[in-house]
Amino acid sequence: MKLTIVGSGYVGLVTGTCFAEVGHYVTCVDNDENKIKQLQAGIIPIYEPGLETLVRKNVELGRLKFTSSIDEGVKNGEVVFIAVPTPPQADGSVDLSFVEKVARSIAEVLTEYRVIVDKSTVPVKTGEKVAETIRRYCKTNVDFDVVSNPEFLREGSAVADLMNPDRIVIGANGDRAAAIMKDVYEPFHAPIMITDLNSAELIKHASNSFLALKISYINAVAAICEASGADIGMVADGMGADKRIGREFLNAGLGYGGSCFPKDLSAFIRISDDLGYDFSLLKEVERINGDQLERFLKKMRSVMWVFREKKIGQLGLAFKGNTDDIRSSVAINIAQRMIEEGALLKTYDPKGMEKCAVAYPQIPLVSDPYDVAVEADAIVVATEWKEFKELDWLKIKKLMRTPLIFDGRNLLEPGEMKNLGFEYYSVGR
Ligand code: UDX
Repeated sequence: MKLTIVGSGYVGLVTGTCFAEVGHYVTCVDNDENKIKQLQAGIIPIYEPGLETLVRKNVELGRLKFTSSIDEGVKNGEVVFIAVPTPPQADGSVDLSFVEKVARSIAEVLTEYRVIVDKSTVPVKTGEKVAETIRRYCKTNVDFDVVSNPEFLREGSAVADLMNPDRIVIGANGDRAAAIMKDVYEPFHAPIMITDLNSAELIKHASNSFLALKISYINAVAAICEASGADIGMVADGMGADKRIGREFLNAGLGYGGSCFPKDLSAFIRISDDLGYDFSLLKEVERINGDQLERFLKKMRSVMWVFREKKIGQLGLAFKGNTDDIRSSVAINIAQRMIEEGALLKTYDPKGMEKCAVAYPQIPLVSDPYDVAVEADAIVVATEWKEFKELDWLKIKKLMRTPLIFDGRNLLEPGEMKNLGFEYYSVGR
């Protein structure tokens, strides 16, 4: 099928590439001409495992192309996906101006039937607004359908998530659009759930909020573990073995970050408020998440007393492992807090340093993970990179002034660290 994706960011680029990989002919549109030129030259602006190979392969096969012309995109694709940013505003509500602008642009060049799909994460009832906008700005009386098809991919495993989804949610108010969308997703061999438009939009916010709730829940239980001497790893394993609960998203740590959970949670709270329901449960999820960093800093202070003039090495800046994304990263927050309190910080991240250097020039970076340990009074593990687990920790211990570790992601084994001679602190154990 011929498909068009408007917006070539994380979601748009990965989605378009995976559609091409299963055999569709895909046009990716972006209004950033520089980005389009880079993509045309085979330069991928984001780090996502497996993406670069797939982009190159599908461009060569003639199944994937890039343009800055929305006109060309709408002409080329029988299905047009909207995958533009929906950033948070100061009051927690969602800025839908990019979605609205794309809807108007599509309307202006629409000449024959198209399915217009909202892939961006949007508040419930946005699809209705998109349809109204297209109808208002369309010069002809052409027929079209608006569909919601939320994306559930995780950064760092986006390609794998997209190629092997748990489920595909299609919110359509008519059979014609639903049938076309089923054809789009048929090659993925995944369960397809057809719902109405509003329900599909709600599934996305309800799912992400639930996952955030799971993380805050386990972080709260971790606080009880610390107070009682229980071990959060064992508690999570015991809980997670119940199929109704599941082990995933029960890892205690510094709390969730990233470009999705914090934004989606505050958006859902706001959406609920607007619809007349006070979702106070989710407000508590946010509070617990913010508190997690404070509790960790408090633990560090109780051991180190003061940060001023202490050499602290931090491993991790990205909001989680396997990504270069530092947006709303708790690791960045902790680095900033330690700098504010006078620590002499050195940080390292396998992929996140380029973006950190641009956005946070005050955070000192080193290019070798072992350099953060030189003469250090303490090391903080702030991101769950597998590669940190595989470091030579004996070598690290020898480089440090005092062998002290604060593991904010429960990445290392407490027993092993103690055997190596470290004073080791983690979360909930
Ligand atoms: C998330 C959703 O998982 C995805 O379905 C949605 O489409 C977008 O938002 P993502 O933001 O890429 O994906 O990251 P995810 O892997 O879900 O992790 C989010 C945050 O939670 C990270 O900061 C991570 O460190 C933290 N986390 C995750 C925990 O603290 N504990 C866990 O057990 C799991």
